[in-house]
Amino acid sequence: MSVVPVRTIAELRERVRVARRTRAVIGVVPTMGALHAGHGSLMERARAECGFVVVTVFVNPTQFNEPADYSNYPRPLEADVAFCEARRVDIVFAPAEAEMYSAEAQTSVNVGEVAEFMEGHCRPGHFRGVATVVAKLLNIVAPDQAYFGEKDAQQLAVIRRMVADLNFPVEIVEVPTVREPDGLALSSRNTRLTPEHRRQAIALHEALLAARARILTGERSATELKRVAAEVIARYPAVLLEYFELADPVRMTPVEGISGPVRLAGAIRLGDVRLIDNMLVSV
Ligand code: PAJ
Repeated sequence: MSVVPVRTIAELRERVRVARRTRAVIGVVPTMGALHAGHGSLMERARAECGFVVVTVFVNPTQFNEPADYSNYPRPLEADVAFCEARRVDIVFAPAEAEMYSAEAQTSVNVGEVAEFMEGHCRPGHFRGVATVVAKLLNIVAPDQAYFGEKDAQQLAVIRRMVADLNFPVEIVEVPTVREPDGLALSSRNTRLTPEHRRQAIALHEALLAARARILTGERSATELKRVAAEVIARYPAVLLEYFELADPVRMTPVEGISGPVRLAGAIRLGDVRLIDNMLVSV
């Protein structure tokens, strides 16, 4: 069966309505396309758990706080559709911007404190855009299960908060981060790295590993752990450290002294490419 992308909300709803009549569990994997094995792992999990799998491919303008990042974001739709087809996805929903956002739209979703630290601080408005588009996609598809990657741990925490606070009837499923053999987390933005920047992009993963190792041997001070991370990153001259933080894994608020599970998270820049990564450490 060949997958033709569905472009309209009306057609998507009709196809899901028909699938629901068979009592299939409906799963959705929201993406912005430029699909890689990280997205693939979400699709495989959805395929294993759901009778009907919808992948959404929509480069959401409202979550980009830098116009150049939005215009440079890769959009290889044909390859993305083939990627989904190879993973036996039932529907690819790839709406145009005007289908998702009418010129009259005024409503957005503001999640609270969980959206303020780290990515929320560095990318003003980003999580409002993410929460709004995910709310819309959940209302359009009306899935039983929705799949998100641990790679974007704060995004996942924001979505969990929104789903709980606004009573969305959906189960959020978290899928572990897929990495390159050298540890770099797969990201659609990796394709924009020069070969030298690609080599140095492991800096953040190395910093996460170094901080985790220190926690596991007893270090409890966030200040000291951030110093360790900065020291590792300083060994990579092309890398600019935007932040390296320790956060409560659910509330995503700053942690000063570790007394339980902690999310280590950072953002770096290589040229004009911005990369994020994180790691959960249980003590
Ligand atoms: P995008 O960056 O395309 O990511 C889509 C989903 O794939 C997210 O849940 C993300 O966490 C997951 N993902 C990305 N890289 C991964 C990796 N290396 N391993 C595992 N999962 C990975 O995140 C978004 O799109 C958007 O913000 C979206 C939720 C679609 C809203 O527009």
